[in-house]
Amino acid sequence: MATLGLIGSGFIGGTLARLAVDGGLDVVLSNSRGPETLADKVAELGAHARAATPAEAAAAGDWVVVTIPLKAYTSLPREPLAGKTVIDTNNYYPQRDGQIEALDDGSTTSSELLQQYLGDSAHVVKAFNNIFFKHLGVLGRPTGAADRTALPIAGDDADAKRHATELLDILGYDVVDAGPLAEGRFYQPGTPPYGAPYAQNPGASFAEQKAGPAPAARIREFLAEARG
Ligand SMILES: NC(=O)c1ccc[n+]([C@@H]2O[C@H](COP(=O)([O-])OP(=O)(O)OC[C@H]3O[C@@H](n4cnc5c(N)ncnc54)[C@H](OP(=O)(O)O)[C@@H]3O)[C@@H](O)[C@H]2O)c1
Repeated sequence: MATLGLIGSGFIGGTLARLAVDGGLDVVLSNSRGPETLADKVAELGAHARAATPAEAAAAGDWVVVTIPLKAYTSLPREPLAGKTVIDTNNYYPQRDGQIEALDDGSTTSSELLQQYLGDSAHVVKAFNNIFFKHLGVLGRPTGAADRTALPIAGDDADAKRHATELLDILGYDVVDAGPLAEGRFYQPGTPPYGAPYAQNPGASFAEQKAGPAPAARIREFLAEARG
């Protein structure tokens, strides 16, 4: 059975772990405080889940999701992530992460910073960063369902994007390829595709609303609006 490794097991990591177990994957969860602090979550997820250190979760994963506060990215274990498809859900929130000049001046993006830190042998794909965790937890549907929701992905390695697409399919989602990693900027916080497409009323605050399905065509429209 394939394994999803999770570095970070909070709102998004925990939601992805549930979708993965339901989709037939094994999951290895990790956080900053140690595997013993994840015992309740592991028990809730059942026999296909276990907890480990971030390095162990990275080594065990066929895919590894990095889903931590952005400011912590320089603590990630580089060696076990080499050669892996690394799915990056992180967003830059200066009030949480501190000011990062290269992001403030727009010269790079948070996912490119992660790629740079990990080095070329890891293949970063940006995904799951633009959907509220509660919406992510309920919008997954089987392959081919008429009301299946799509999520944008961005990355510089075509094989890794294909690999990430396989993961999203298992988790219940279609994919819209938004281009190279740098184009992840078009669905970062503050852009039209950030949160709103998955809310029933995109005009109001997305986190306060019920989830609504967003097929690929809708995501393409929001991305086109972001590109201007
Ligand atoms: N919440 C959302 O709806 C949402 C949606 C899309 C994207 N995002 C983004 O996705 C990321 C995760 O968000 P979240 O809401 O899931 O955060 P969260 O609930 O605060 O969870 C963060 C997780 O990261 C772990 N962590 C922190 N520092 C770590 C380190 N150095 N090494 C390993 N694990 C570490 C935490 O473990 P400890 O508790 O042990 O420190 C915790 O399990 C953020 O960048 C966020 O902006 C969030």
